[in-house]
Amino acid sequence: MKQFYSIAIDGPAASGKSTAAKGVAKKLQFLYIDTGAMYRAFTHYMLSEHLNPKSEEDAQKLLPSLKLKEDKEGHIFLNGEDVSSEVRSLEVTNNVSYACAHLCVREKLVSLQQEMARSENVVMDGRDIGTVVLPDADLKIYQIASVDARAKRRYDEFIEQGLKITYEEIKQDLIRRDYIDSHREHSPLRPAEDAIVLDTSDMTIEEEINAIITLFYQKVGDIWNNTEK
Ligand code: DC
Repeated sequence: MKQFYSIAIDGPAASGKSTAAKGVAKKLQFLYIDTGAMYRAFTHYMLSEHLNPKSEEDAQKLLPSLKLKEDKEGHIFLNGEDVSSEVRSLEVTNNVSYACAHLCVREKLVSLQQEMARSENVVMDGRDIGTVVLPDADLKIYQIASVDARAKRRYDEFIEQGLKITYEEIKQDLIRRDYIDSHREHSPLRPAEDAIVLDTSDMTIEEEINAIITLFYQKVGDIWNNTEK
């Protein structure tokens, strides 16, 4: 009998995955796991130890002492310290694509993520959830949005936080990160074969959440029907 359910949401940067995933988790009372925050926390760890995020040898040095935890309120803890705001810094954002590309880092974080999903119903978002972390997820969403829609969302967020950055800088950074994430050797960003592609360019958050929940119930219905036969 099936015990725990999982929803995998992948897609490029700023496609609205985390807002949708949080909303879905809240409505279904599932645990939300932000895997991007885990790669960001590891990058912050490297930078705070004055190590080079591009160096696999440097990354390897920190993995044995790495402890990551996410709580139900969406905070992330690195070795017991709450680093939720530090992981959103520009320095971390500019370096995370390099630190997360090392095989040793991916292996360690993927195993932590799989462990987290073993004992709870989860909504997990990232780049390789449907392809690598949870290949048996009950529902896989690959969320996309045009680069302009994504840049506009990020720009509005930054302006609200009082950060000085231009729309064009944000757009170029998204294009750069998408390129690195989808061309890296290990676990590149790509949709799983059985993922449902959801284009959210013209959708409100509420519409995204409702669409994912409807798809989930359609899938879960199938699982139940198959189990009963
Ligand atoms: O979703 P985000 O922007 O917080 O992700 C930060 C970085 O981490 C991004 O460059 C891609 C990477 N990432 C990844 O490689 N695999 C994941 N499962 C999640 C994020």
